[in-house]
Amino acid sequence: MVANLPKIELHLHHEGAAPPAFIRQLAQEKRIDLSRIFKPDGGYAYRDFAHFLSVYEAACQVLTGPEEFRRLTLAVLEESAANGVVYSETFLSPDFCGGGDVGVWREYLHAIREAADEAERTHGIILRGIVTCIRHFGPDKARPAAVCAAETAGDWIVGFGMGGDESVGRQGDYAWAFDCAREAGLRLTTHAGEFGGPDSVRQAVHDLGVERLGHGVRAIEDPGLVAELAQRGTVLEVCPGSNVVLGLYPDFAAHPIARLREAGVKVTVSTDDPPFFHTTMRREYQMLNRAFGWDEDDFAALNATALDAAFCDEDTRARVK
Ligand code: ADE
Ligand code: ZN
Repeated sequence: MVANLPKIELHLHHEGAAPPAFIRQLAQEKRIDLSRIFKPDGGYAYRDFAHFLSVYEAACQVLTGPEEFRRLTLAVLEESAANGVVYSETFLSPDFCGGGDVGVWREYLHAIREAADEAERTHGIILRGIVTCIRHFGPDKARPAAVCAAETAGDWIVGFGMGGDESVGRQGDYAWAFDCAREAGLRLTTHAGEFGGPDSVRQAVHDLGVERLGHGVRAIEDPGLVAELAQRGTVLEVCPGSNVVLGLYPDFAAHPIARLREAGVKVTVSTDDPPFFHTTMRREYQMLNRAFGWDEDDFAALNATALDAAFCDEDTRARVK
C-alpha cells in the first residue's frame, strides 16, 4: 500500500494546515465572528484562489500569539505524523507572527520550536522551518520578513521563501529579501509556475536564484524551460491536489507531474494547505498511484529526491527514517 510509506513533505504552509475546527475553536474563545469563512459542513469556504487567500488571512486573525502557534504546531504535526510524514518543512510567516518585529518573531519561534520538540518525542516527526514573505504584501514587507529570517537562521530555520499572489509584481522585485536570506546562509525557494506561467518560473530561477520552486508545474507549457530545469536540477515542490482544487487542472490524470518527471525534472510531492484542499499526504500518494500507476519504488525514488533536496543539515538528514 503506497499510502502507508514514510513520507518527506517539503511544501506545507503552517497556517494553511490549521484544521478548520481548530480555527473555529480559537474564534469562539476570542469571540471573533469568522462564520463567513466556514461551510455548513465545517470546512473552509472559498470560491477561487483570490478568495482562498483572503479566507486564509481571515483564519490567521485568531492566531494572535505564541501560545496559539504552539497549539497549531502540535495539531499540524500530529496530523502529518498520522499520515506517515517523517520529515516536514513548513512555511512560517513573520507577517502572521509579530508583523516583522524580530523580538516578537523570536517569541513565536520559541513556542513553535518547543511544540516541534514535543511532537518529535511523541510521534518521531522532524520539523524544519522556511521563513516566508508574502508576495501580495509587497517588497516593503518582504524586507523585514527576510531580516527576521536572517536573524534566526541556523538550527531549525533552514530556508527562506515566498508565497502569496504570484500575479503581483515580478519575482525580481523581491531580490533584496532573497539576497539578505542567502547571505545569512538560508536555502531558497519561491512559489512560481502555479498561477504564473513559464516567465514567472524563469524569473524565479534567474532573478532570485532559488534552488527549489513551490509548484513550478506550469513550466510544462515551455519545453525549453522544462529542459533547463532538468539540466539545472531545480527541485519542484509539487502539490497536485492543491492544483486540482484551485482549478489549474481538471483532475490528477491531467496533472503534468508525471510528464515533468519523465522529462528528467526533479519532482517531489506535498499538500500545500491540506484542510483547504481536502487532502492529506496519504491521499496524494493514493491519487498518484491511481492516476499514473506509481508504485512503492516510484515513491521511494520521489522521497529520496525530497530528502536530498531538504534544506536541513546532514546530521538531520541522517536521522530521517
Ligand atoms: N499560500 C498558501 N497557499 C498558497 C498557494 N497555493 N499559493 C500561493 N500562496 C499560498
Ligand atoms: Zn504553497
